Amino acid sequence: MNQEKTTTFLKNTVEKKTFVESLLSKMTLDEKIGQMYQLSGDDNVLSEEIVTAVKNGEVGSILNDVNPDHLREIQRIAREESRLGIPLVIARDVIHGFQTMMPIPLGQAATWNPEVVRKGAAVAASEAASVGINWTFAPMIDISRDPRWGRIAETLGEDPYLASQLGVAMIEGFQGDDLSNEESIAACAKHFAGYGYAEAGRDYAYVNVGEHELHNVILPPFKAAVEAGSATFMTSFGDLNGIPASGHEDLLKNLLREQWQYDGMVVSDWESIKEMINHGFAADEKHAGLEALRAGVDMEMVSETYRKNIADLIQEGQVSIDQINQSVRYILGLKYDLGLFNEPKAYQFPEKGNPEYLDIAKVAALESIVLLKNNNKTLPLDPKRLKNLAIIGPMADDGYEQMGTWTFDGVESWVETPDKAIRELVGDQIKIHSAKGLQYSRDESRDGFPAAIAAAMKSDAIIYCVGEEAILSGEAHCRADINLPGIQDELLEELAALGKPIILVVMAGRPLTLQETEKHVDALLYAWHPGTMGGSAIADLIFGKANPSGKLPVTFPRMVGQIPIYYNQRNSGRPADETNFTPIEKIEVRAFQTSLGNVSMHIDAGYTPLYPFGFGLSYTTFEYKNIRVDRPAIQLGETIKISAELSNTGEFSGTETSQLYIRDLVGSITRPIKELKGFQKHTLAAGETIAVEFELHTDDLAFYNRYKRTEAEPGDFEVWIGGDSHTTLKAAFEILKDTNHIV
Ligand code: GLC
Repeated sequence: MNQEKTTTFLKNTVEKKTFVESLLSKMTLDEKIGQMYQLSGDDNVLSEEIVTAVKNGEVGSILNDVNPDHLREIQRIAREESRLGIPLVIARDVIHGFQTMMPIPLGQAATWNPEVVRKGAAVAASEAASVGINWTFAPMIDISRDPRWGRIAETLGEDPYLASQLGVAMIEGFQGDDLSNEESIAACAKHFAGYGYAEAGRDYAYVNVGEHELHNVILPPFKAAVEAGSATFMTSFGDLNGIPASGHEDLLKNLLREQWQYDGMVVSDWESIKEMINHGFAADEKHAGLEALRAGVDMEMVSETYRKNIADLIQEGQVSIDQINQSVRYILGLKYDLGLFNEPKAYQFPEKGNPEYLDIAKVAALESIVLLKNNNKTLPLDPKRLKNLAIIGPMADDGYEQMGTWTFDGVESWVETPDKAIRELVGDQIKIHSAKGLQYSRDESRDGFPAAIAAAMKSDAIIYCVGEEAILSGEAHCRADINLPGIQDELLEELAALGKPIILVVMAGRPLTLQETEKHVDALLYAWHPGTMGGSAIADLIFGKANPSGKLPVTFPRMVGQIPIYYNQRNSGRPADETNFTPIEKIEVRAFQTSLGNVSMHIDAGYTPLYPFGFGLSYTTFEYKNIRVDRPAIQLGETIKISAELSNTGEFSGTETSQLYIRDLVGSITRPIKELKGFQKHTLAAGETIAVEFELHTDDLAFYNRYKRTEAEPGDFEVWIGGDSHTTLKAAFEILKDTNHIV
């Protein structure tokens, strides 16, 4: 990793170093310790206690107050009334929007469009910066394959390549061309590392993961974040193989600082340093602070182990002042890069939704929504052929729930719900009958059923909007049963009994288990929590103003017992396929013990998901053929070209995300049966054919191997191009043995 590369946004100029060193030389130990402390404003940073602490130079950063008047005043106090006038870095969880909400990150990942993600982050940064925020705790680039985990909503999906590409786009969107720009805010790559592997999908639980999985799946998005110049990193709550990430010297000092040459600032998660006592990794707060300092956490979020103990730890010779100075350099460097030492700008809330930002949110919602089923071309609906339409369900007209988890400052009144948007779009052509049926997703009351059934009986088609309230995903909101909550399925069964076309729209923070649900519907649009403009996007898709193009960034299990289930699994010694699998219903009574295929599957669920990674339908159809490689073999260090023909064989123009997968057939460790290594979005007119072309350098095939090296290994490879991870259009190539390369 060369130094220049990691300073894309983090200026490593002589001016910056001179400024930081000069300021550092004037600081007392207490002022240095103050910079390493982030406190929560809890909506009022102008409390007497906080104002006093800021004046005394005891605080380096604040979070959780977004009142522009408060932020303007507290920043003035820091700059004008503290001894050295060091400004505060002001943080907020601007995860998928500030006031204009984009789809949740998992939904943004379904766009497979870095440009959409980048623009969404830039909107979020602009709105947040306008009130005085200059640091967000995003992107969350944890990999997770467990939809029971509430925070899968915040991830960019199950695949390290996709999460890397989109995580970088989010960082660039937040940080812009220069961190000191008025509309730029510092990004924060989190949670370093392994948080998404919490045992049983239970938040904060133990993370037990092998070194190959850690290096080949969990770490690549963070490496990409370093190369993209993420201004900060955040440590995870998690206990990574016995060592809490906030005290993990190997992860932070050896890997992030020394191997990856990261020169940004590292902040703990909320009280994650103090929680090392609960982990049983620290005896008390002083010990916890020492472990975090040894590991290299520069700033402590909310807990006060640093504030209370660093002076003693230095006095006792357990920590050196050089270590403290280095952390303070990173913190002052961040503030310098953000331009906070320059004249502060005026802070104010924008008056109303910026139309340009709402348009960006709509495009994000449109491209995030995945068409999972469309029997008999139920969709798009033709308003000329409908007289009456029922819009039913708890998520049909609920702006608050539609915005999803981690919506601290989203403006509910700006939200376009499906009911509102459909009425605006076709209300003058179709009579619309709305009835929620259920008041919220967990509602167990059948009181609303009669009105819902009555509305449906008057109608030619039913749009049933279901899902999860926002609070059922996100931090600390994990579910062991990921069916539709409450009695939404029961209402669906009663609607289905009417024999009318049902379009199911699902808004949720995770993949739900829909195996039984989807049987009752003719079409299924998966909208995640689509944000401010979600309803408008749903209306346009249902009535054909736009053609669905979303693709799943995460696997949908048939039932919760299959978890973890994901596309890039290893083959095992006894892989299942359609020839050797015996489903439970075909097992004879009193069958002899070895009556099964003796392969890796569940007899009551099989071995395939309900919907695979990368899957998504369109109103048109796409076909791939004639895959080929430009040569059958390459040397290490060379590039191979893979191409295929893509045709739009349907009657609508549409956008397809072509995906490139490889398989390294034999490695020094076992390798996944497929790995995503490229994707491209193409819009084709009906009947159009194009050539889809990818290039792969052998560096793209490198992995952390048995010899603890990250390198490509010679041998045979298979390569696929297709519209989802189940693609069968395959070619082959070889990386030639390099006679000097002993594997
Ligand atoms: C939370 C989350 C973290 C967030 C931080 C500040 O507990 O784990 O992602 O940024 O605290 O709200």
